[in-house]
Amino acid sequence: MTDNDAADDSETPTLVTCALPYANGKAHLGHLRTYIPGDAYTRALRKQGREVTFVCGSDMHGTPIVVNAEEQGREPEELAMEYHDYFERTFPRIDVDFDNYGHTHEESNFRRTQQIVRALEDAGHVYEDEMKVAYDPETERTLPDRYVEGTCPYCDNEEARGDECDECGRHLEPGEIENPVSKVSGAPAEYVEQTHKFFALSEFRDFLSEFVDDLEGTSNARNQPKQWIEEGLQDWCITRDLDWGVPYPNDEDLVLYVWVDAPIEYISSTEEWAAKDDDVPDDAWERYWRNDDSEIVHVIGGDIIQHHCVFWPSVLHGAGYSTPDAVMASGLVKINDRAFSTSKGRAVWLDEDYLDEEFPADFIRYYIVSYTGFENDLNFSWSLFQERVNNELVDTFGNFVYRSALLAHDNFEGTPDGELEDEVRGEIESAVDRFEGAIDDYNVKEVAEAGMALAGFGNEYVQRNEPWNLMDEDEERAAEVLYNCLAVAKASSLLLEPVMPSAAERVWETLDEGDVHGATLDDALEPVEGDLQEPEHLFEQVDDEDIERLETRLQERIGDDGETEEEEETEADEIPFERFEELDIRVARVETAEEIEDSDSLLLLNVDIGDEVRQVVAGLKGLHAPDELVGERVVVVTNLETATIFGYDSEAMLLAAGEDADLLTTVGDSEPGTQVM
Ligand code: MSP
Ligand code: ZN
Repeated sequence: MTDNDAADDSETPTLVTCALPYANGKAHLGHLRTYIPGDAYTRALRKQGREVTFVCGSDMHGTPIVVNAEEQGREPEELAMEYHDYFERTFPRIDVDFDNYGHTHEESNFRRTQQIVRALEDAGHVYEDEMKVAYDPETERTLPDRYVEGTCPYCDNEEARGDECDECGRHLEPGEIENPVSKVSGAPAEYVEQTHKFFALSEFRDFLSEFVDDLEGTSNARNQPKQWIEEGLQDWCITRDLDWGVPYPNDEDLVLYVWVDAPIEYISSTEEWAAKDDDVPDDAWERYWRNDDSEIVHVIGGDIIQHHCVFWPSVLHGAGYSTPDAVMASGLVKINDRAFSTSKGRAVWLDEDYLDEEFPADFIRYYIVSYTGFENDLNFSWSLFQERVNNELVDTFGNFVYRSALLAHDNFEGTPDGELEDEVRGEIESAVDRFEGAIDDYNVKEVAEAGMALAGFGNEYVQRNEPWNLMDEDEERAAEVLYNCLAVAKASSLLLEPVMPSAAERVWETLDEGDVHGATLDDALEPVEGDLQEPEHLFEQVDDEDIERLETRLQERIGDDGETEEEEETEADEIPFERFEELDIRVARVETAEEIEDSDSLLLLNVDIGDEVRQVVAGLKGLHAPDELVGERVVVVTNLETATIFGYDSEAMLLAAGEDADLLTTVGDSEPGTQVM
């Protein structure tokens, strides 16, 4: 990137949004996978001195909320408001700091939603048609969305819900689900005709192809939509026969489908921010939504890509609004390597399992951001959590900062005078570059690593220079070393602020360097000159007993659901999913390929499996020309024992079909290292 680009970028206002949580239950680790990286990314942009607005709100509508309220004998509004208040209170507890947090059942969102729907009607993008909707003959009511379950027509999953399939991630249109069963009475549902409104999505094919090609963010947000667009776009039913929701303009019987008004809250919430923030004019929201000189970045989970990259941009485009520039879509959260499931108890709840245990927000923030790339599935276990926190946060970052500050405080009664050594300046500069590169790549893990690597350097620097031994022999040198240590402490905590805002704040308080949240990357190399305070330990270790207790609690919760019995009933010729999961199958790219001279059948390859390159011996000679293989994406098993074939170590197994060794590859462009499941 040229300097010029950097200047342009920093003047582009950026709106960051996080997917709205359903106001239908409490926060869990799955949610945090969206909100923590969204907040960290926003804070990282602010470190570049950019103008950034960060908004979200509660998703109050939709059938799950109605179903839940019905079960509890309450009104949907009361229930949704209760959870809305809960989320609004809870985000600050994990330092997720929105500029506005609204909700979809507000006047502002009704107005904006109805305006957009009218604009779509005026532009001829909406039509009325008869359609089949599921109907429960026992209770004599229609069954929108989650009121009905059945078989997914795309992947045959028998537990698909009326409007979405968890298995293949597809949105399902009313009437699409096969063998529908009523969730209300348990009886088989029938289909009846009803009149509904449709959005003519199929007309947006060309727009969408181009939109998806230009979309920035994570690659999954482009690849999946490309495939859906190729398979053909169906028009989208945008109304439901429910009482709870945003009324369809001039129609008393229908409300809008929740996925119409929910993303519109991104706009309404921006309007609310502009109205309440005294530093900007009331029409500041138009900068983002009516103007192309700004950027819109949506941070979401991988389960709602279709809504954000197909329906939503089409609605915006059709109604004359700006469309998103980037979508960052996360992988799933797994618990102990198995699917996250609140209904099966395999879940970690933010309140009872985490905050009530008095773990600081920074620990889970660090774990979620740094454990794996945003696009990958993130595995959580209590022991991994303990390991990462104790080794990386307590032993490296915390220890380095505490030690440096304590030595300076005890021996020099404050920050000693000194100058930055070239080596230290170089390390800080390259960490800042790495941080900025990470932002350009929408890579929050790399943001965390830039700061942690600098802290790691600091730790190594202080151990190498042993200032504690220098105190007697060469006090001046001791002062010099400690000055440099404090400079690294200041810069690394500045770079870690997006990921661990509270810890960074404490470090800057100790150093008396002012407000770390408002500081920018330019401050990384500013001299350390505050009035150093007596330091306290930055973090406390996570104890073994706590981890054991939490792991036991999790197991007990899972144990109650009969899952284990179910597993024992598995037929002998089937293998449990865990055994399949033991295989580490990944996408790889062939880096080099050559023939093994004396062998009739073997090629020697080097394949990139993401974090390393492996040597592979494969029976491909005569079937594939070595130079045609170079650069190809292949699929390999990476955790088999190393085999020695023809005197060469084979460190992975290439997957191929049939006698011609037809090589397995991928349809999209998954990066090397991507897990194959
Ligand atoms: N209300 C919709 C989003 C509307 S956006 C206009 C929704 N709500 S949610 O409460 O189910 O999820 C909120 C966010 O958390 C979404 O980004 C979702 O993808 C994410 N996650 C919720 N559970 C998750 C996991 N188990 N794993 C990873 N992320 C998931 O979707
Ligand atoms: Zn499916």
